[in-house]
Amino acid sequence: MDITTTPAWSVALACAQSVVHTDLQKLFALDPTRAERMSVSVPLGNGELFADFSKQNLDDASLGALLQLVEQSRFVERRLNLFEGVAVNNTENQAALHTALRAPAGSGVEVNGNDVIDEIHRVRAQITTFAQGVRSGSITGATGKHFRSVINVGIGGSDLGPVLVWEALSSISAPAVQCHFVSNIDPVGVRSAIAQCDPETTLVVLCSKSFSTAETLSNGRILSKWLGESLGQQHVSKHFCVVSVFPDKATTAGLAADYVFPMWAWVGGRYSVASAVNVVNVIAFGPPEFDELLAGMHAMDEHFLAAPPERNAPVLMGAINVWNRSLLDRETRAMVAYSTGLRSFASYVQQLEMESNGKRVTRDGQYVNIETSPVVWGGVGTNAQHAYMQLLHQGTSVVPVDFIGVAATPTHDLDAHDALVANMFAQSQALAFGHQAEPHRTLPGNRPSTTLLLSSLSARTVGALIALYEHSVFVQGCIFGINSFDQWGVELGKKLASEVRADIDAPTPSQVADSSTSQLVQWYKNHRRAT
Ligand code: F6P
Repeated sequence: MDITTTPAWSVALACAQSVVHTDLQKLFALDPTRAERMSVSVPLGNGELFADFSKQNLDDASLGALLQLVEQSRFVERRLNLFEGVAVNNTENQAALHTALRAPAGSGVEVNGNDVIDEIHRVRAQITTFAQGVRSGSITGATGKHFRSVINVGIGGSDLGPVLVWEALSSISAPAVQCHFVSNIDPVGVRSAIAQCDPETTLVVLCSKSFSTAETLSNGRILSKWLGESLGQQHVSKHFCVVSVFPDKATTAGLAADYVFPMWAWVGGRYSVASAVNVVNVIAFGPPEFDELLAGMHAMDEHFLAAPPERNAPVLMGAINVWNRSLLDRETRAMVAYSTGLRSFASYVQQLEMESNGKRVTRDGQYVNIETSPVVWGGVGTNAQHAYMQLLHQGTSVVPVDFIGVAATPTHDLDAHDALVANMFAQSQALAFGHQAEPHRTLPGNRPSTTLLLSSLSARTVGALIALYEHSVFVQGCIFGINSFDQWGVELGKKLASEVRADIDAPTPSQVADSSTSQLVQWYKNHRRAT
């Protein structure tokens, strides 16, 4: 459906064009209850996520129009389809059942007549037993030594989620093993991990939903060779674990593994953090911590399903993102986490959002006529303040910001932590209300941000935060009218990369490549070398 033909779109557009509805100074002055009314608290059982949307450029009329837009996008029906396992990924005829991964036993979700919850819990039990074995030392390497290091090999969704969870949890507790993450096909990455590991005590986890990803295969082969040279090729499988929909492809590729965990075609790579893809962290922090991550995600799922739209954090966040991108024409959105443990959160959300909603064709094959996903980027505060926040305060572009902070520090240094959080609040204040002075020193203000606060950094709150963004992406996809669960745009690059790779080996230059690419290949061939 074309959302721009709905009455709600016209109302929203009129609001977006009027300063009456968008000026933050005025909106705050008019309504002393604004902050409270435009904030939502999501209880997570043990912990809380608090979202303050009041520093966004919108008033009740614009918010009302946005919520109408959500409704007119057939969101309620689509959300039900998502949770019930309908093939919402219509170009691949697949369900997108990431919510089932964290649903309790007995939730009864079926795909093609099979109860996927039973299957999910069976695999979870398998992961638990394996992780406990590695942690206790009952599962060892070929020489009988305990595993001390785990190298996770994967890219995109098979890397970013595990990295995020590793960084978050290792900032609050000590892992049982040291984890390394290898993603890029640049051999420098895998060699750097190798340099820090002992083959006798290293377990390699190869994560690839498709098991056809060039980067993962290449890094896997380098690691297999490294292990084989030290332990004997026949012992390598004792150090290998595979997570994939197609584990047999690993064997075909010569990457035999003694430990295999399935995942399913109906989980998108970028939505797979609650699956066996995260086995590295189950080993590092233990099965109960993984259960906590899933509990946080499930708590957000429940909130997303049950809370009324005007009190529903993912609905509000998704609608506000559409407001900023499609109605106010703000091309990018920054994500600044004031937490070292969340230093990779921007990268995680970048894939989640841009790979999901970076589309220009609707579900039924029509070109969209509004702007869809913004460019998402960011980093960690206060580093951001000493790097790019200048542009956000005084540059010519308006860049909405998601600030993410944590109330508790895992250290004894409350004073420094208070300063960290004060900086975050001050940034959103400066963006919103600015400062009047001579031109060089003026900050115009009226620049939007959302502030998300976690009661503490824990597996549970991180899970909830991830699920919040997943569902916000879904809400945006509904309004854009696109399929958020495919990623055809990345395929051409993969195909061309293998053609160019063949050209590099070919004795004569290819006749098919354009002159620029041929020239680059030739220049590279003249200069390439390995040490
Ligand atoms: O970049 C495309 C992509 O398919 C992502 O969607 C995915 O997360 C990543 O590659 C890795 O894919 P796989 O897990 O199949 O190796």
